[in-house]
Amino acid sequence: MKKIDPSENELDPINLLKWYVSCGVDETTANSPTNWFDLPKDNHTEQDVKKTLLPVTSPVPQTLLSSHKENIEAAVEVATKAANLEELREAIISFEGCSLKNTASNTVFSDGNVDSDILLISEAPGAEEDQLGKPFVSSAGQLLDKMFGAINMTREQNFYIINLLPWRPPGNRKPTVAECEVCLPFVKRHIELFKPKLIILIGGTSANSIMNVKTGITKLRGKWSKFKLDDQMIPMITIFHPSYLLRQPQFKKLAWQDLLSIKEHLESQKSD
Ligand code: URA
Repeated sequence: MKKIDPSENELDPINLLKWYVSCGVDETTANSPTNWFDLPKDNHTEQDVKKTLLPVTSPVPQTLLSSHKENIEAAVEVATKAANLEELREAIISFEGCSLKNTASNTVFSDGNVDSDILLISEAPGAEEDQLGKPFVSSAGQLLDKMFGAINMTREQNFYIINLLPWRPPGNRKPTVAECEVCLPFVKRHIELFKPKLIILIGGTSANSIMNVKTGITKLRGKWSKFKLDDQMIPMITIFHPSYLLRQPQFKKLAWQDLLSIKEHLESQKSD
């Protein structure tokens, strides 16, 4: 392979991109570049770097606020017009108000049994989901299937899965608050059209967005609450995200307690 010297080609954007790729930089992770040389030189902590890289909890910048509001309004408008799940899928595919769509390969809408009563809401597609256009096909998806398999539930028969975001955040970074806000109207409409009898929130990002709270997953998991759907209150529980459990297997014990709580809830519904 021809060696690329960036100093010879610095004004040519194609060569610059080739140089990045040859260095292993093959994905963008945010909408705007970060000038790492502008970071405070002394004493910058890992926390500073994270803040710069991932504006997850920071407010939307003032300059972007009006278009952010417009994007949310547009999402509410098109989501509300969707009369069924197929129309909602089309509305999401044609929506231009979330820049994640520009870097994603596919829109990931849902998987599982659309005629079931149980809705799982997770965070966002990863690389494999983005390639296949289906949620939870990766190792996290395999663990999810095993977790629910342990209480005799399968996605083919017993539940339906969606994500808060239908598009993969580049490099699997955590979605920003703004991205979650823009996609939330679609999730709310998805809930209205699917009409679940039980909602299971997978992981802290999904739970914080749906419940509009800022609470850590270790406090949220296993707690039952209600989602207001028209005049009904739908039971809702949060569980650990399987990717988190793959990284922190010591929490599988707690995840098992939460699954047993779900099983108990479902059994109590049958006997009512
Ligand atoms: N993680 C998620 O939250 N959703 C997926 O679809 C895959 C991984």
